[in-house]
Amino acid sequence: MRKSVTIHNLKFMLLVSSRRIQGAVTNIAKKIDRDFKNQNPLFLAVLNGSFLFAADLLRKIKIECEISFIKVSSYSGTGSTGKVNTLIGVNENLKKRPVIILEDIVDTGNTLEAVMSEIKKHNPDGVSIATLFFKPEAYRKKIALDYVGLEVPDKFLVGYGLDYNGLGRTLEDIYALES
Ligand code: IMP
Ligand code: MG
Repeated sequence: MRKSVTIHNLKFMLLVSSRRIQGAVTNIAKKIDRDFKNQNPLFLAVLNGSFLFAADLLRKIKIECEISFIKVSSYSGTGSTGKVNTLIGVNENLKKRPVIILEDIVDTGNTLEAVMSEIKKHNPDGVSIATLFFKPEAYRKKIALDYVGLEVPDKFLVGYGLDYNGLGRTLEDIYALES
């Protein structure tokens, strides 16, 4: 695995190996299997960033479940714009179903808050949150996170679904921008 990568014009240093990522995904899968047995939860993965996390997590989940996708966008370059646009909303009937949001990373929490309020309009039987990465130093909201894979420093990351202006999503490991 490479120690650093250059994407567009920026240099990123290795932060989390794919081995640690897979360990974190396995831990989340085990907890969800235990907590949602016989409940047939509906996973709602937040595109684009969470596509790899969702795919790997669902392959490890043993209980009966369903998955769908929503799409929002808030980042421009390496910074959150603070404004969240819904590009694909909820298309499923969520009424009385347990929903588990799948996020690649929770940063300020703006996206999560917007996604939560959108989902709650559909009257689900509870909404849980599973995020692979969490930046505690950047988090500005009160919403509790039910499943967190790994806490990471408040740096801009690429890899495993996370991009910098479209590139870097296919990296197996996570790289951080040196500030
Ligand atoms: P938030 O709204 O500030 O919590 O940011 C959430 C969304 O911004 C995530 O779902 C990601 O898609 C994107 N994002 C946040 N931090 C990073 C990062 O370090 N690298 C790439 N994308 C990020
Ligand atoms: Mg995202």
